[in-house]
Amino acid sequence: MTTAYDAAYRRSLQDPSGFWGDAAADIKWYKAWDKVLDDSRPPFFRWFTGGQVNTCYNAVDRHVEEGRGEQVAIIYDSPVTQTVRRLTYAQLQDQTARFAGVLAGLGVGKGDRVIVYMPMVPEAAIAMLACARLGAVHSVVFGGFAANELATRINDAQPKVIVSASCGIEGQKVIPYKPLLDHAIELASHKPAHTVILARPQVAAELLSGRDVDWHDALAKAVPHDCVPVAATDPLYILYTSGTTGQPKGVVRDNGGHMVALKWSMKYVYNVQPGEVYWAASDVGWVVGHSYIVYGPLLHGCTTVLYEGKPVGTPDAGAFWRVIAEHKVETLFTAPTAFRAIKRDDPEAALLKKYDLKHFRTLFLAGERSDPDTLQWAERHLGVPVIDHWWQTETGWAIAANCMGLHRFPVKHGSPAKAVPGWNIQVLDEGHHPCKAGQVGALVVKLPLPPGTLPTLWNADQRYISSYLAEFPGYYKTADAGFIDEDGYVYVMSRTDDIINVAGHRLSTGAMEEVLASHPDVAECAVIGVHDAMKGQLPLGFLVLKAGVTKPEEQILTEVVALVRDRIGPVAAFKTATIVNRLPKTRSGKILRGTMQKIADHEDYKMPATIDDPGILEEIEENLTSIGYANALPKSAS
Ligand code: COA
Ligand code: AMP
Repeated sequence: MTTAYDAAYRRSLQDPSGFWGDAAADIKWYKAWDKVLDDSRPPFFRWFTGGQVNTCYNAVDRHVEEGRGEQVAIIYDSPVTQTVRRLTYAQLQDQTARFAGVLAGLGVGKGDRVIVYMPMVPEAAIAMLACARLGAVHSVVFGGFAANELATRINDAQPKVIVSASCGIEGQKVIPYKPLLDHAIELASHKPAHTVILARPQVAAELLSGRDVDWHDALAKAVPHDCVPVAATDPLYILYTSGTTGQPKGVVRDNGGHMVALKWSMKYVYNVQPGEVYWAASDVGWVVGHSYIVYGPLLHGCTTVLYEGKPVGTPDAGAFWRVIAEHKVETLFTAPTAFRAIKRDDPEAALLKKYDLKHFRTLFLAGERSDPDTLQWAERHLGVPVIDHWWQTETGWAIAANCMGLHRFPVKHGSPAKAVPGWNIQVLDEGHHPCKAGQVGALVVKLPLPPGTLPTLWNADQRYISSYLAEFPGYYKTADAGFIDEDGYVYVMSRTDDIINVAGHRLSTGAMEEVLASHPDVAECAVIGVHDAMKGQLPLGFLVLKAGVTKPEEQILTEVVALVRDRIGPVAAFKTATIVNRLPKTRSGKILRGTMQKIADHEDYKMPATIDDPGILEEIEENLTSIGYANALPKSAS
């Protein structure tokens, strides 16, 4: 039987221009495109060249014009401030137009960059939409990054303005943002002309006269600004993500293709109708927040939930059920780690009984591998389909999923199901030959990538090619390894680079190594990701000290932990390091991080044929055992 999925998938690959050209009819254009797929400059592909659009118009104004003005656009639910606030589409339009006026008044125009360093408050979404309204390019930086990381992004994006708040609230902790921002600006070589600071009642921020502007004052005086038509191919945003070094990659998203893809995905991947309540429990600082807290649901005329809280502890493991029941959420999207946290605190989901979840229809999980245990736990207690789907910051939306709006295939636990229309996923071996069904290899996507994906990296075309396109000519390298089974189900098993996934957050061990190496007593170091029952993985550092160091080891370990927190941020969750005499290496000097990780996780491993000195592995094993790893963890298959 040919399903709607099969037909859509086939057409999307055979006739991408026809497929996406039809999907583009769901977006309002000032001027139609000349070409749906512009392949005149491979490997750089562009979608909807010649078209003129505005993303804010399609996400906000359009709905007011079409009669959704009184519908709630954003529900801000903040257990950490005991607040629930609702903004209708008409109110969102008013505030966005005014904030666009504020930015324009500060000199921001089409193409200028604006960094948004905000906690999970509606003003973060308003700031993003206001940039889109002006054709300015926003770059949201996650609040859990340290001043140094923010400074790196300021230098790369060169923003005219930075929008921030006096503080973020993390569970019970209030985190002043302004000192971090001031320090980042001090560290950066590029200086923004202005900052706009949202004063929150919990913490006052000191404003620098002439540079810093108060959000509320500015908004009160602002003249609303209309939407500015931009080219479909103009950048909407830059989102920095971990690369293999301390220099993050600036993933670029365009306006036209992005809207077309996200709107299509709301209907066909998530099976959501306009007017429904959609909740992505993530953060605006991550791609999930961009695509499915802000743009996707708003482009689709949904009500989106912006949740400033945690799955547990705000106040308890029933928090998600409370939000779903109170706001009649139909669809929830979060990371498996959130469910592992809930499961840990409330193994029998007893708190679920307090709430009526009758509107709840589907749970989507992404951001890391969905372990079958957690997935089955959610299925059992929620009684709704639990859909794993696979994607990346770079792709902006799902590469593989059970497309609930096309055809619901049986769930195979451990697999995010099948390639989504538009995505020609292949598995290639080291010699670049296609793997057989079931054989693990590199997961790659045949070019051109569908709309909504990264057209390039910010100011780094060559890095875009070397990072993603050079290794497998004609394909995009996802840097994930896995396989496709005989039914076409994709399995994503591990990264092929040094990226680790901590609580659904993507982190570079290479970047952490750069920080450890900067400690004056460290001669050599390595960071690996070790298994953690709640966060999936946690970073673990190995240090070889310089000869003659007399400082107590404990002190050095405390210092390096503080150093990573200070340079990268609390989000790195770097809490453990150990001192070893030597690091295991190949004869050519490559550190055997993969083998160390297997030892730490108590997995079987083969003695690498190229190892320089096999005896070192025993030392590593002893060391890991002494700090609670290796033998302490359950043995699992290699
Ligand atoms: N601003 C400042 N600090 C932040 C922050 C922010 N926006 N976000 C996280 N941090 C801090 C945390 O407070 C914590 O600090 P600590 O070391 O002082 O405790 C540290 O960064 C690590 O944060 P996290 O990894 O999130 O751990 P956690 O123990 O606070 O929470 C979970 C764990 C699983 C509950 C949480 O990560 C979660 O809800 N994840 C699922 C949803 C999600 O965000 N997914 C991302 C992509 S879909
Ligand atoms: P990020 O760019 O932060 O979204 O992280 C993307 C990476 O997270 C991917 O390359 C995968 O390694 C991992 N990932 C995301 N979703 C899944 C999933 N459903 N299954 C397995 N891994 C996933």
